[in-house]
Amino acid sequence: MAELDRPVSFRAGTGESVAALVDVLDVQAAWPGVRRLRAWGREVLGPGPGERAVDVGAGTGEETQAMAAAVGPSGTAIGVEPNPGLREVAAGRAAAAGSAARFVDGLAYALPFDDASVDVLRCERVFQHLDEPDRAAAEIARVLRPGGRALVADTDWATMIIHPGAPDTVETIRRFWLGRFPNPLSGRRLGGQLTAAGLAVADAGSQAIIQDATAAEDMLTLLGTVDGLLTAEAREDLFADLRAAARRGDFHFSVTMFALLAHKPGET
Ligand SMILES: C[S@@+](CC[C@H](N)C(=O)[O-])C[C@H]1O[C@@H](n2cnc3c(N)ncnc32)[C@H](O)[C@@H]1O
Repeated sequence: MAELDRPVSFRAGTGESVAALVDVLDVQAAWPGVRRLRAWGREVLGPGPGERAVDVGAGTGEETQAMAAAVGPSGTAIGVEPNPGLREVAAGRAAAAGSAARFVDGLAYALPFDDASVDVLRCERVFQHLDEPDRAAAEIARVLRPGGRALVADTDWATMIIHPGAPDTVETIRRFWLGRFPNPLSGRRLGGQLTAAGLAVADAGSQAIIQDATAAEDMLTLLGTVDGLLTAEAREDLFADLRAAARRGDFHFSVTMFALLAHKPGET
């Protein structure tokens, strides 16, 4: 589980190695749960020919490219990405793929678009990194035109399940993970935040991102480097429990993502 094999950060301005971030995003993009949630999101969001589409926190731009294909030559698809290295990678990949997707600098708190100028917007796994997600929700509402729609997807880290394992050890790991994000319960808070921003939530989807036993090995290796978190004994016991469980098909490790479709009230 490459997401866990090094402590990378997607927070704006942390100066993390771009290659490491790209590596992590590529692994995540291939997870079946992510692919399924993205497919559902594309279907319900439904960018159409001629529309102006925006992908906030676009990362490597895979979904921005999908938006560009959907809006066609008469539309525009713009990825907003504050990390210059990721922006460069996204632009390079789009060019190599012959996609018209383009990428601009910007933050979720101050999107570089006029009021009511965007038809359709997506924002995936960005809110968990934000100190003030309500401000980002308000920005989404500001830039959407009346009748415009948004798909916001995020993880809820409290949904992490590690099975089996000593309850105290599992709880210690869960709490550590919650502490890594400014907004770790992002998934469950999206509905309230989008509603408070004046948007009407129209649909909700979710996917558990289910990992295999190698993910647990990677995670325990990483957690072993965090001073004082787990005793060597607790770690070894958990390794042994999870490996034995994997052999008998009783291993489960997951975290759940939620995605909300919201409309801006008004004429279409
Ligand atoms: C976990 S990645 C998700 C990338 C992409 N949306 C995806 O699902 O693959 C989080 C992204 O949010 C971006 N990001 C972080 N803070 C941001 C902010 N304040 N405004 C906009 N994007 C931000 C990061 O640079 C990164 O590209």
